[in-house]
Amino acid sequence: MKKIITYGTFDILHNGHIALLKRAKKLGDHLIVGVTGEEYDKNRGKLNVSQSLHERIKNVEKTGLADQIIIEEYDGQKVVDIQKYGVETFAIGSDWEGKFDYLQEYCKVKYLPRTKGISSTHLRNNLSFVKLGMIGYGKIAKRFLIESKFVSNTEIIAVYGKNYKSSKKFIDKNEIKYAEKNFNKFLENVDAVYIATPHDSHYEYAKLCLIAGKHVLCEKPMTLSLNETKDLIRLAKKNNVVLMEAVKTAYIDGFSKMVSLSKSGIIGDIVHLDASFTKFISNKNSREYDIQMSGGSHNELMTYPLIAACKILGHDVINYKNLRYYLKSDVDIFSKLELEYKKSTANLYVGIGAKKEGDLVITGTKGYIYCHAPWWKTSQFEIKFEDSKKNIKHKHNFLGDGLRYELAEFISCINAKSSFSFRLNDLDMLFLTKFINSDYKSIKLG
Ligand code: CTP
Repeated sequence: MKKIITYGTFDILHNGHIALLKRAKKLGDHLIVGVTGEEYDKNRGKLNVSQSLHERIKNVEKTGLADQIIIEEYDGQKVVDIQKYGVETFAIGSDWEGKFDYLQEYCKVKYLPRTKGISSTHLRNNLSFVKLGMIGYGKIAKRFLIESKFVSNTEIIAVYGKNYKSSKKFIDKNEIKYAEKNFNKFLENVDAVYIATPHDSHYEYAKLCLIAGKHVLCEKPMTLSLNETKDLIRLAKKNNVVLMEAVKTAYIDGFSKMVSLSKSGIIGDIVHLDASFTKFISNKNSREYDIQMSGGSHNELMTYPLIAACKILGHDVINYKNLRYYLKSDVDIFSKLELEYKKSTANLYVGIGAKKEGDLVITGTKGYIYCHAPWWKTSQFEIKFEDSKKNIKHKHNFLGDGLRYELAEFISCINAKSSFSFRLNDLDMLFLTKFINSDYKSIKLG
């Protein structure tokens, strides 16, 4: 029997895919189709796939052309598959011409004509294009803009800021279409908004956007009061729009994998979590040291350790203690938050004027998970045991500075018409706000 193998994502199956499968099938008697796995696609930077692996497999199945369907999960798998299944010919579209010549060592390689004028990318763009507006033009906004270029189906088309001259300068420098003076006009032209202004302005902006029926991705901390977060959640539900807090860690696959492994029983019962994030900010004139702008290490950074506690230990905190350390300034330079759950505890640390190792440790009754800095951009972690021969290392591809993952999730929630992401849902957002807004005891250092 002559076996043929071909691979693809097969997102929104189209005539080009079907023609390719027909051509491949003609080359032999048994066609194996490799459909790319979700994690594999993300790892190779394909963040825009709109259908689940299950849906894509079902669609390939429905063509009746595949005799066998397999999942492609890692780079280098093709060499293994060809030998494992005794493949005679590897076939792929001509857009890949030359790229798979290295497989000639194992089988024949055929580049088949690609159907002109159609692609999944094209279909996805026609599906729904999200016109994004950005409120604010500071440091994080610049990084977000760079990262947004890696997410398809969306483009930042407008910027609004209090100072029109500065927003105009920002759009000219970054080739964005409009800077708007009038907030309502700005809203009229966009489908969704990214809020990247100082913390205490988030609520008012988010509220106005949600009322206007716009989807909102809001920088962390989303608000500084539980009632405000509750109100935003209510408005998102009422207006059927997406509300997402931009905590990049929550949307990174490596982090989700670490969370699910920690709960799988592999390290036994979880008894404790340590998570730290310190970022030394030397410019004492910056927003982070300004009490009027709700600065301080706790407001600035505690969301990151909190997302780890929230996802790994849950929401049911029975007791907590928050210590915030002050030098001469009005803002805390270091903050320690101790959480007590029924069967576990957490120690969370952040600092802008004091430094500490920024790692994360999940302690279990059989072993522990160790993730070194920057664990909030999770690209690797290790499951460790008393017997080090049993240790397991995990690696995940992490691209750019992580903001592309939160934007990709935001766009996919908009397309799926769900108000919240399962990666950071409404209850998680309430948890984060509650402990950002916690009662605390001050420790005077100077
Ligand atoms: N293909 C084709 N003709 C097209 C589109 C795709 O022959 N018009 C082939 C590709 O060359 C590949 C297979 O179909 O061999 C699966 O490709 P895939 O990447 O899933 O499809 P695209 O439409 O190219 O997807 P994207 O736009 O996401 O890159």
